[in-house]
Amino acid sequence: MALRTLESLGSLAGKRVIVRCDLNVPLRDGVITDDGRVRASLPTLNALIRAGARVVVCSHLGRPDGSPDPAYSLEPVAQRLSELLGMPVAFGRDTAGESARDAVAALEDGDVAVLENLRFDPGETSKDVVERQTFARRLAELGDALVSDGFGVVHRKQASVYELAEMLPSAAGLLIAAELEVLDRLTENPQRPYTVVLGGSKVSDKLGVISHLLPRVDRLLVGGGMMFTFLAAQGYKVGASLLESDQLETVKGYIADARERGVELILPTDAVVAAGFAADAPHVVADAVALEDTEFGASGIGLDIGPDTAATFANAIRDSRTVFWNGPMGVFEMPAFAAGTTAVAKALTQVDGLSVVGGGDSAAAVRQLGFADEDFGHISTGGGASLEFLEGKQLPGLEVLGWQ
Ligand code: 3PG
Repeated sequence: MALRTLESLGSLAGKRVIVRCDLNVPLRDGVITDDGRVRASLPTLNALIRAGARVVVCSHLGRPDGSPDPAYSLEPVAQRLSELLGMPVAFGRDTAGESARDAVAALEDGDVAVLENLRFDPGETSKDVVERQTFARRLAELGDALVSDGFGVVHRKQASVYELAEMLPSAAGLLIAAELEVLDRLTENPQRPYTVVLGGSKVSDKLGVISHLLPRVDRLLVGGGMMFTFLAAQGYKVGASLLESDQLETVKGYIADARERGVELILPTDAVVAAGFAADAPHVVADAVALEDTEFGASGIGLDIGPDTAATFANAIRDSRTVFWNGPMGVFEMPAFAAGTTAVAKALTQVDGLSVVGGGDSAAAVRQLGFADEDFGHISTGGGASLEFLEGKQLPGLEVLGWQ
């Protein structure tokens, strides 16, 4: 069955339409530092406004513990949405309580309200299906239909993503449809060479995707914190760098599997090693085989791929026709350790073919480093979701919308 689209809901004029977005944006001192997910929600919201719907936006933000916490309020997001839509946006100060009900009741056709963080209610993320259903039922009372458009959260079986979609007439929004169109191109017959670049801190987060991708890709490039487990698996000492010792055997298996399959597994040949984890820490470039042979000895900590590796990665990326990238190459938030991530991002902008930045930290990184969204084929709004999609997993938030 194919994904149910907006058209399947029929005329929405005058109807209360709940839109489940993923407006989980990074905030610093209450200020949004990357509004990419808010902007990505606009096409669906504008379509519903034009259709004369009464638009009720809901989302999670961060991981509060199931009770209200001002640090995770969606109010700054509602303000940003109002600026981007160029119209007033009402704000319900609770998830499905009196304030939310009042905000919804006051909507006229084409108006928009944002409700407070769904995760302020323990029912949203509860493991107990009955608790999720109870919360979803309260949400369902606020709408006549649900448009599910939070791509970043479709891998979560949560009340607003799954149970609510079962209770109301529901369909996918334009963002989910656009994300799937691109990600499908990565799984169905990608143009070759097909290169996947993985970074970020933990190998354990990427296990599923690595095993699923090895039979499918031509090249796998590994940087970021997870590279040190790959280097250690080859017998190199990595000093105080991030190392997941319990993953060494698995990683050795990947290295052997890549060799057998003829997949080019490109690992770092050098790294930027620092005296400590700090923006102003003294640092040097070291060969991957000798990370402990710097002035910092065994307490040196690798915080970025080195310049040789960055050049090798950039060449491999530029020479590909399809590239998927997830996870920064180093601690890009600190300028001294951002060069590897910048080189990879730049190379992606030069791909003659499809280049996809896979959500989360990588999306924030490219924007923070000054790249424009248009420089890439696609910037996914889903980090975990896009990885799980590429792993070939069934995603509950898509399944419930008819996707198979
Ligand atoms: C994300 O940031 O990947 C999504 O918003 C999902 O958030 P979660 O990992 O807290 O469920």
